[in-house]
Amino acid sequence: MRDLVPPFPDRPKHPLSAFATLRAAQRNFLEIWEERCFEWEIFSHRLLSRTLLVCNSPDTVASAFVEHHDSFERKSPQMRHGLAPLLGDGLFISDGDTWRRRRRIVAPIVHVSHLPLFVPLIVQAASETAERWARSGPDQPINVLTEMATLTAEIICRTVFGRQLGAEHAAEIVAAFTRYQQLIGQLDVVYFLGLPDWIPRIHAPAIHRSAKRIHKVLDQVIRDCRERLSGGEASMIRLLLEARDPESGETLDDAALRNEAAVIFMAGHETTANSLAWTWYLLSQAPDVEERLHIELAQVLDARPPTLDDVPKLTYTRAVFEETVRLYPPVPLLARQALRDEAIRGRPVSSGSLVMVVPWLLHRHRRFWGKPDHYIPERFLPENARFRVRHAYIPFSVGPRICAGAAFGLTEAILCIATLAQRARLRLAPGASAAPVCRLTLRPGDDLWMLVQPRG
Ligand code: HEM
Repeated sequence: MRDLVPPFPDRPKHPLSAFATLRAAQRNFLEIWEERCFEWEIFSHRLLSRTLLVCNSPDTVASAFVEHHDSFERKSPQMRHGLAPLLGDGLFISDGDTWRRRRRIVAPIVHVSHLPLFVPLIVQAASETAERWARSGPDQPINVLTEMATLTAEIICRTVFGRQLGAEHAAEIVAAFTRYQQLIGQLDVVYFLGLPDWIPRIHAPAIHRSAKRIHKVLDQVIRDCRERLSGGEASMIRLLLEARDPESGETLDDAALRNEAAVIFMAGHETTANSLAWTWYLLSQAPDVEERLHIELAQVLDARPPTLDDVPKLTYTRAVFEETVRLYPPVPLLARQALRDEAIRGRPVSSGSLVMVVPWLLHRHRRFWGKPDHYIPERFLPENARFRVRHAYIPFSVGPRICAGAAFGLTEAILCIATLAQRARLRLAPGASAAPVCRLTLRPGDDLWMLVQPRG
């Protein structure tokens, strides 16, 4: 049995010229990194008018994101400007006191302690997907990328808004978020290439229109929720309405509440969808991994739907997912702007300059991973934990700005894999393929056509 080496873009042997970098980055930001970038521990990368400092080792990542967090807590200006029409001063793009206050309120809401409320909603939504797949014919390809986006949108809609959102509003809000993310994805390339500021403004009216559509629905849901504060089912909006800052006792006003609901929706939807789509692709290419997964699911679940108590027992299922997001981190690059002059392991960084951590590089780094491009879920089994290098694996980022919903996202992914893999096996449709492409998140191309084979 040979380990699978799943697809990655060709790596230039030598640094690209400015023009070639521009062309490569417009196609796919993952294509600009030459072979040696997977070996260096800290380096400067020149992209047209910008110089970026890339921290590419556990040590330099810890220095920037943990030890000197205060100096590098600010997101890049382009990320802030691109997302501000939708998220306002929301946690994802704020910094300083606003970020600290919002983090204290929002993090407990997506925390593991609330998972018992939301796990039944996750399993229910995944079961509905499995039932729909069972009704589709064996020769009828499904677009797994869309399927997973629909499933995770459904999950985040039900957990954030509760069922009071209604199918019509849910469809509208999902469509508007998708549109927004597409528009922002186009700005992303512009940002990294350091093109003039007026270019993003071409998209500004469309961005503001889609933000307005989303705000209208969110405002309505928040009003309804306020009116029915007592009684009703659990939802993150309800928790946000009742939440208080543990230090000041402050609650969120309507605008802040809307911004944080938008943050949770945006941060928690496409990331999980893309990584689940990659999971199905990888399982279809590695039958031995798939078989081991099926054996674990049969042993632990014996054909019943998973519960929260099963999650710690599903160690191989978890390893399958963790290896997937090592190879294809849904957020493949993290960019920050220095708030003051600082030094990262002796390298001076001047105030205002951009610092990047690129999980795409770090997760395949030659020094910190054996067989870095191979798909080997076993490396994430508990018995192999001692071989892993701290901070070489950061799909959820690291430090005080680590993903607030990491436990939620991981649990959601394990439960979706367990529910669906018990009921179906997916195979790549004839002529279909997957290739990693970086927009704002890393996805397996624009679509991923697969065939559903029902399982017993
Ligand atoms: C596989 C799933 C997920 C992955 C890989 C992921 C990854 C990340 C990463 C890398 C960041 C930091 C981004 C940056 O610094 O630019 C982040 C932030 C965040 N994520 Fe996630 N995420 C996932 C799922 C979720 C879910 C399900 C939720 C909520 C339910 C969530 C909520 C958040 C929030 C609120 C932040 C902002 C934290 C802050 O700035 O303090 N994420 N996520």
